[in-house]
Amino acid sequence: MRRVYLDHSATTPVDPRVVEAMLPYLTEIYGNASSVHHFGQEARAAVDRARHEVAALIGARPNETVFLSGGTEANNLAIRGIAEAAEQHGRHIITSQIEHSAVRGVCDALEKRGWEVTRLPVYDDGIVRVEDVIEALRDDTVLVTVMLANNEIGTIQPVAEIGRLVRERRAAGHRHLWLHTDAVQAAGRIPVGVEALGCDLLSLSAHKLYAPKGVGALYVRRGVRLVTQNVGGHQERERRAGTESVASIVAFGVAAELARTELDARAEHVRRLRDRFERGVAQSIEDVVFNGDAARRLPHLSNISFRYIEGEGLLINLDLQGIAVSTGSACSSGSLEPSPVIRALGRNDELARGSIRFSFGKDNTEEDVDYMLEVLPRAVENLRRLSPLYQRAQAERAACETQPVVAGN
Ligand SMILES: Cc1ncc(COP(=O)(O)O)c(C=O)c1O
Repeated sequence: MRRVYLDHSATTPVDPRVVEAMLPYLTEIYGNASSVHHFGQEARAAVDRARHEVAALIGARPNETVFLSGGTEANNLAIRGIAEAAEQHGRHIITSQIEHSAVRGVCDALEKRGWEVTRLPVYDDGIVRVEDVIEALRDDTVLVTVMLANNEIGTIQPVAEIGRLVRERRAAGHRHLWLHTDAVQAAGRIPVGVEALGCDLLSLSAHKLYAPKGVGALYVRRGVRLVTQNVGGHQERERRAGTESVASIVAFGVAAELARTELDARAEHVRRLRDRFERGVAQSIEDVVFNGDAARRLPHLSNISFRYIEGEGLLINLDLQGIAVSTGSACSSGSLEPSPVIRALGRNDELARGSIRFSFGKDNTEEDVDYMLEVLPRAVENLRRLSPLYQRAQAERAACETQPVVAGN
């Protein structure tokens, strides 16, 4: 069976060039980067080289980059670390309603411990408004955390504008106000620069950019004080204890270098495939809604709600035909919870349940898109035929069409 992977926002395959670069660090150069002997020094040098590359991807200095286990840990360290460090200055955090669960969960946990959290809405375009940030800011706000690009609909948030606002407030005397952004989905897909964004902390995950799972980084601007969450060792300049996963870090470094040098070509490639796919869907399937702002979004991602059907059913149907996609709905206690991100766009539960994310990667081809466009319309039609909602809608449409048109109406 033909297999087409369209779930690159969930994870990406490891690039063969990355595998090649990391292998010696499993078999030959296996020292602990903290050891003083030759084996250790070689491992340390490799970690330092990787740190340069990861920092270069986001325009940071190497010593502002902390390696850790991935995007989830980066978000935990950033948000908890700032909240605990700035506690005596305030306990208010501003975030958005469409954050990844790794940010949402940390904010919820802090709320239970007495912090106040303002969750900014997005509008039908899936984008946070800077005016809402201005309105939400208080004297006791210590952190604004807004993602750079959303993982379900790909919308790009106005982080640079929020960054300017935070800097202005800080210059005006609000000294303990910091900006964090989760750039896990954005990095390697659009240009990301910490100076242009004006952020103080930024989260990265290697497995979204063709490196292995289980490694990531947090950018911490020089001068920002964080309370370390993972204690018990001196690694990463006391910011994250634990023996470095040298081979994974090497892989992350090489993947970051490739992502930087190939960024434009990759973006153009996936945008072309995504746009071809969306044109095909619009022409061949009726009753679909494209979610998220059409222009201000990541080039590789398309999120579509298919009326009258459950996204989960469509996902399984496509999987049986070799196509991997994902839904934002979560199956909890036997019922499908509609995606909170799609709900935040103001869509009803039916559209939120019927949404599917298609995310393209650098190795997808036009033939993949064509196969998708062959399979998808049939799968949607088959599921709709079984849907009582669809049958009712069709009957109502047929009735409308046979109604005589009354003059003057
Ligand atoms: C926006 C966003 N943040 C954080 C994460 C978590 O990253 P990791 O899988 O490396 O823990 C993800 C992964 O899906 C993500 O999409």
